[in-house]
Amino acid sequence: MEKKYNEILSIVQKELSCSAHDIDHILRVYNLCSYLSKYEENVDEEVLSLAALLHDIARAKEDSDSTRTIKHEVLGSIMAEKILKDKGYSEEKIQKIKHCILCHRFRSGNEPKTIEGKILFDADKLDAIGAVGIARAYMLAGEFGQSIYLDMSPEEYKSKNIMENGIINDFSKHTVNMEYELKLKNVGKKLHTKKAKEMAEERLKFMNEFFNALKRDIFK
Ligand SMILES: [Fe+2]
Ligand SMILES: [Fe+2]
Repeated sequence: MEKKYNEILSIVQKELSCSAHDIDHILRVYNLCSYLSKYEENVDEEVLSLAALLHDIARAKEDSDSTRTIKHEVLGSIMAEKILKDKGYSEEKIQKIKHCILCHRFRSGNEPKTIEGKILFDADKLDAIGAVGIARAYMLAGEFGQSIYLDMSPEEYKSKNIMENGIINDFSKHTVNMEYELKLKNVGKKLHTKKAKEMAEERLKFMNEFFNALKRDIFK
């Protein structure tokens, strides 16, 4: 990583707490962004790198918010603006970085309009699938006391534990295989860049094999 980004990274590190959105996630997304950008044209590497480093800065604040009103992509873009202003970045760069952060979330419905926003979105989603996605999801499952598998149809599960706005009602009753069935399985269709789509196909194939094997091992 470029030296000039280390100060920003240490500011971000102080704000993180959750194991699945820790500094390792930030660094994997940063590296994935840099890899995906090689397959695209006219990428502003500075905008992309800073957006990758700052994208989850408000995640811990959202996770610890008992009112469940904080959206980390919205608060994160505001926090990022302040940090970048203090560091002397131009208004133009700051607005571009804010757009990437605002649009990085799967659930938010804000579509990224710039190539940097699209790459960040794709990199962040790639880190939620495949072997690393499974590992991260089980880290969270352990924190919240979830079971390792729930043998239920996704429809029945939805009626029992997903609220109308799509938010999980009781996180302790959620499971990694339901997260896969309801959300992660469809991630590939939401991606923007060709290279990320190829990588997603491979990673989702592995996830499918994993959950089949898990079910087989539990119920045979
Ligand atoms: Fe995020
Ligand atoms: Fe993220």
